[in-house]
This record gives sequence, structure tokens and C-alpha cells, in this order.
Amino acid sequence: MPHQITIQPSGHRFTVEGDETLLDAALREGFALPYGCRNGACGACKGKVVSGQLDHGAYQASTLKDEEIAQGRALFCCAKPLSDMTIEVKEIGAARDITVKTLPCRVEKLEKRADDVMLVWIKLPANERLQFLAGQYIDFQLKDGKSRSYSLANPPHDDALLELHIRHVPGGLFTDQVFSTLKERDILRLKGPLGSFFIREDSDKPMIFVAGGTGFAPIKGMLEHAFAEHTDRELVLYWGVRSLKDLYMAELPRQWMAGHPNFSFIPVLSDPEPADRWQGRTGFVHQAVLADFDDLSGYQVYACGAPVMVDSARDAFIQTRGLPEDEFFADSFVYAADAETAA
Ligand code: FES
Repeated sequence: MPHQITIQPSGHRFTVEGDETLLDAALREGFALPYGCRNGACGACKGKVVSGQLDHGAYQASTLKDEEIAQGRALFCCAKPLSDMTIEVKEIGAARDITVKTLPCRVEKLEKRADDVMLVWIKLPANERLQFLAGQYIDFQLKDGKSRSYSLANPPHDDALLELHIRHVPGGLFTDQVFSTLKERDILRLKGPLGSFFIREDSDKPMIFVAGGTGFAPIKGMLEHAFAEHTDRELVLYWGVRSLKDLYMAELPRQWMAGHPNFSFIPVLSDPEPADRWQGRTGFVHQAVLADFDDLSGYQVYACGAPVMVDSARDAFIQTRGLPEDEFFADSFVYAADAETAA
């Protein structure tokens, strides 16, 4: 039977269904409760039970002591409610609330989605999870002491595997490896989460997302997070690529449109091929936004892609459409082989 849970002090409410733990249900509904391992070992999810009954589940006795249980403490990654409950826990509100970790990880799955785009799923050790805000990125730490940055494309509530969209940069040491020798079960080392590209939840303004190429990755995570928390804010995604084959996941935003009346998707091709028989929008992606919106003064914009796209969008939206400067959020990356950093 479902149970209603109220979080203090925020007053947020969520429903625990079936066999879910309190943490699983909160994350599924888009509430960022703190966590580390998600298996009762680290204590990061510990909080207070204000009222209601629960089963503490399979926690480790060294992490939750008897006297803490007597004081009304629980590990929300293991605990399951037996009644409606009120719990007290500080929700993660900003990147500074999250501990940055350096961890080994294993390549779980590789899938080539376009000539130059590889989807890579990685798995952390069994007793580790990476808490992050949708849209943040990780650094892979390489043997030569350098690092490569990739945005997390999965939303936080779906974190059993971390999903990355890696674009091939010919001559780039790391991406050449990804497209040639990297295989399942290979071990890498990551540091994260990093970055301040995430949805500002303290606003009810409509949001425009502008993605260039694999800049779709963090925006995918942000939108899936927004859908999970049932936002009623208007969401518009513009995804710009060269030609049809570069829209490496176009079916997904089309599915989102079918299920979410507050979401719309506008693909924009800058250089469609004759074989594409493209009837849709063409040109640069930020110009498509300019063509559709005379006034952005009441909006937030989230942009991710090559620096030239992000810079052009920022300048044009602020200077010609009245977008407030502090309502433009961006993550940009470069494709140059020597600075091989990409969303
Ligand atoms: S004990 Fe580690 S997240 Fe719950």
C-alpha cells in the first residue's frame, strides 16, 4: 500500500510505492535527499523520523547504532515505511552540498549511436554511488595526469549506471581510445560531480534548453529529472546538429513530447543532406530560438554545446531579447584534440 511521506523542513511530499525505500521513492519523485552508498554502509543518508512507523531494513549495525534508532534516526536508503510518515533531512539544494569523490569505475556498456558519438555506461564499485545534480559532469583522470570532462546524461534517480555521450575527436588521445580499444569491463578513474550546470529549482519560470551535438547529454539528465519531479514549468528543447544522422537520440525527446504536454522539441539541422529530405527547421540552433521568441525576459535558458554556440546564444538572448543575465546558464566544451573536453 502506498505511503505519503512529508519532508521537514521543506514541506515537500512524496509517495512510497510497493517495496521502495524512502530514498528510492524520494529520488524517483525528484527530491535530492543526501546519499553515498545506497546500501546501508556509509551513513550519508541518515535522518530523523519525526512521526510514523518504519522497517529499518538491511542496514549495517556499525552505521546505525541502537542508541541512534532509539533517538529516532534511520538510514533512508534501507528504511521502508509501514505508515504515512514525516521525516527530517536536509535536501541537497546546491552543488556545494555534495562531496566530490575520486573513484574507480568500470565500463559496463558501449553503444555507437552515430559515426562520431559513443554512448558509454559506467558502473561504480558495489558500495558506492555518485550523488549529483542533473546536468553536472565528471572528469576521467588519465594516466598522463590530464583529465577529460563528460556530462552525466542520466538523471540522479536513475544512477545504477552513469551514462555519458562521448563525441569522437580525431587525434584526441582519450576519444581515439573510446572509439578503438575501450571495451566492457575496462577500469577508469573518475572525479565528480563537478560543475554548476543544473536546474535552478527556486524559480517557476519557463525553461528553454539549447543543445548543440552531444551537449544534449546533460540536458537529457535535466529534463528527465524535471519530468520525475512532475514540474509544471513549460520546457522547450532546441537540439542543433549538422544533419539527420547526428540526431543520435531523436526518438527520446519525441517520446517525451507524447507523455508531457508542457514539453516541446524542436530539432534544428545546420547542414542537412539531400538524402535527409528534411522538412524541419534549419540554420544555427540559437537563431531558431531568436526566430520563435521576441521576448525572453520571463524565461530561463540552459545551453550546452560548443563555445561559439553558447557565446552567440548568450549575447543574442541578453542583448536582443531581454533575457536577464543571471537567467542564462551554460556549459560549453571544445572539440580541439589538444583540449579534448566534451559534453
Ligand atoms: S548508508 Fe550510505 S546511502 Fe545510506
